[in-house]
Amino acid sequence: GGTTAKDELGNDVSVSKFLENRNAGDRNLVQGLKGDPTYIVVDSKEAIKDYGINAICTHLGCVVPWNIAENKFKCPCHGSQYDETGKVIRGPAPLSLPLAHTNVKDDKIVLTP
Ligand code: FES
Repeated sequence: GGTTAKDELGNDVSVSKFLENRNAGDRNLVQGLKGDPTYIVVDSKEAIKDYGINAICTHLGCVVPWNIAENKFKCPCHGSQYDETGKVIRGPAPLSLPLAHTNVKDDKIVLTP
């Protein structure tokens, strides 16, 4: 089961290309479960972590950008903030960003709820 992470053109994301193209320290979005924009998290050893972070603000649904300098997610709409694991640290967001389980299989990223 699960859904493969897709790029903006709807093609499966290749893990090797994903790692090659990303900026160190940045967070990169894919289309995850239900097509939701989802951050794939990479550890210091360039391995994909076993969770992705849904980027849709739990307040009113804006896509929340990652702020590299401050090491957190900051919603541009009403100022909610989330830590690096998506935990809400400042409202008005009522809930943390949902996580999706990620698995690497055949150079693809597979997400499950
Ligand atoms: Fe993100 Fe309101 S939609 S703070």
